[in-house]
Amino acid sequence: MTADVLAAKTRVFDQWAPNYDWLFTTVFYQAIHQRLLSYVQLPSNSSTPVLDIGCGTGKLLNRLAAQYPQLQGTGLDLSPEMLRQARRSNGHRPRLIFVRGASETMPFADHQFQAAFSTISFLHYPDPQQVFMEIGRVLKPGGQFYLVDYTTFWRLGHQQNVAGLGGPMYFYSPQQRQTLAVNAGLTCKAHHSLLGPVLLSIFQKPRVSVQSELETS
Ligand SMILES: C[S@@+](CC[C@H](N)C(=O)[O-])C[C@H]1O[C@@H](n2cnc3c(N)ncnc32)[C@H](O)[C@@H]1O
Repeated sequence: MTADVLAAKTRVFDQWAPNYDWLFTTVFYQAIHQRLLSYVQLPSNSSTPVLDIGCGTGKLLNRLAAQYPQLQGTGLDLSPEMLRQARRSNGHRPRLIFVRGASETMPFADHQFQAAFSTISFLHYPDPQQVFMEIGRVLKPGGQFYLVDYTTFWRLGHQQNVAGLGGPMYFYSPQQRQTLAVNAGLTCKAHHSLLGPVLLSIFQKPRVSVQSELETS
């Protein structure tokens, strides 16, 4: 079931990729990225490794790389065509790289990243708990996860089927996001409204795990 959904999403985003950075998406996504950046706190003087899951055409990583001159960014995406666009418009080689893979099974080592981002991609994930587990695994202790997506609001239920978007999309309330995070060992730092129903949730991996505290006491 998950494999079928991922294959369908790949087809949809491969088709969308050549036109993704035009018109509506440009204005909407750029506004969201800009507002997100006002909440991001990264060390400015070190080569901070960061990850963008469902990176699309790589616009957020390019903004981050411009703001943090030593940042090392990795973009992960299912869609080869989205990645083709991202590589073509990569303005910060070799600091930014783009890798094919699913957010459910990330091709990265444990504790590799200081921060992880997801902008308007989480709603496509058929197994959100698995994605949170992967985020918890690849983040360094003290690392942060910035999740930006539509939240449940007004008449929008938890699950929507939108024709042409390769299967269901899911919307999570702040409480549902927190439950997924806590199950993956992360704590919730804050929620901020970015644009209409688009909500930023900031999570953190504890600096010292409960297990290592027990081992050292
Ligand atoms: C609406 S686009 C958002 C792109 C980008 N984050 C942005 O803000 O412009 C959603 C992206 O998520 C990717 N995606 C969807 N499901 C995915 C999954 N399970 N693993 C990795 N990427 C996925 C799609 O291929 C697409 O590029």
